[in-house]
Amino acid sequence: MNILLLGSGGREHALAWKISQSPHCNRLFVTPGNAGTVQFNTSETLIKNGYDQADFQRVAVFIQQENIELVVVGPEAPLVAGVTDFLKSNPSTTDVLVVGPTQAGAELEGSKDFAKQFMQRNSIPTAASRTFVADELDAGLEYLKDHNLPVVLKADGLAAGKGVIICTTEEEASQTLRDMLQHQKFGQASQKVVIEEFLEGIELSVFVLTDGKSYHLLPEAKDYKRIGENDTGPNTGGMGAVSPVPFANEEFLTKVKTQIVEPTIQGLAKEDIDYRGFIFLGLMNVNGSPYVIEYNVRLGDPETQAILPRLESDLVELLRATARQQLVETSVQIRSQAAATVVMVSGGYPGSYEKGKPITGLSEASDSLVFHAGTKEESGQVVTNGGRVLAVTALHDQLESALELAYHQVNQLNWEDIYYRKDIGQDILRYSPSGK
Ligand code: AMP
Ligand code: GLY
Repeated sequence: MNILLLGSGGREHALAWKISQSPHCNRLFVTPGNAGTVQFNTSETLIKNGYDQADFQRVAVFIQQENIELVVVGPEAPLVAGVTDFLKSNPSTTDVLVVGPTQAGAELEGSKDFAKQFMQRNSIPTAASRTFVADELDAGLEYLKDHNLPVVLKADGLAAGKGVIICTTEEEASQTLRDMLQHQKFGQASQKVVIEEFLEGIELSVFVLTDGKSYHLLPEAKDYKRIGENDTGPNTGGMGAVSPVPFANEEFLTKVKTQIVEPTIQGLAKEDIDYRGFIFLGLMNVNGSPYVIEYNVRLGDPETQAILPRLESDLVELLRATARQQLVETSVQIRSQAAATVVMVSGGYPGSYEKGKPITGLSEASDSLVFHAGTKEESGQVVTNGGRVLAVTALHDQLESALELAYHQVNQLNWEDIYYRKDIGQDILRYSPSGK
């Protein structure tokens, strides 16, 4: 079948890499794509304005022109903007198979208040919270006075991963609440703020593929969000990932399934929300019990670059079955090897950074996978074009060796002002030397 993948990050390069290995994939198009996906790319850029109706219209025309049968949506923004609903209600694309929830389902990520209420309605374990809007500022400040510290303040809407602030004093919390509600620190996204109890534990990401009726668990992963080594400095989109996660043992994953995944899928069905796609559970393991920190309605980046190389099954079969609601007829095979992913970024990220730096070392042969994120081709040369530039993944029976292989490849790559963390996976090795 002909497949169209929306997105331009490392996640999409990894998806394209895996999709293109399937015998069911005839032609694959990626839009907007990056220098790593040009081999599959569309001849024109379909996404020009950041996922508005004009973009969706261009996508619909392209689907018809190229006989696309399956659309896979990588990032959250087009889902929250309603791309699935658009394609399903547009007469010319109503039959196209789409992997990615409808706008109502995407609210699980698009509105933290919706997600919290959904979890409360469906008895899904999550931190206790209350939501406040701008004219409830005084009530919110009052609520903060008696709250335990630290306290977590979350902008309701999408804020590019920056909308969560953990406050250690009441003054900081009050000021942050004022900044968000009164001064619109995150624009529209902070018109509502969720004030949430701080959960102490170890985080991990669990990925689910569901057709709204049945589901498969995909490999779990641990993401390294902070820019600095030993988890210091500002949050980023993710500086590395490893999979599997040793503490995600069978007992823990059984709790995740029965207490979180199944009530989530049943809750969506009960509320008549058509959900065919990925659910990414950001979880906190609190003394062996899983709590939902956040829902995302897509795969993670860079977790995808670590988990897809561990997936032995044909991804197109799984995606097609998801869109057709036939997932129950499929199975998922996972390789037991450990995967290590190291993200290489532009100096200055997640603050300001320069683009356009020529990347060297890309043609060196290696056993590792080099996924592109912020890259583009300029006069035959691949140059940096974003904060997160490349993600290097290696697989091995032992996590330690997978890390060595990945870092060996990282050392072959270079550009002016390159930065990457050198401690990816070290905490897991301390926890379990085999990484399993
Ligand atoms: P989010 O964007 O919701 O994933 O939040 C960003 C980060 O903030 C998470 O990855 C956690 O490290 C942290 N965080 C969010 N909510 C909580 C919470 N209730 N307790 C502790 N840490 C949290
Ligand atoms: N790695 C975290 C995310 O994709 O949101």
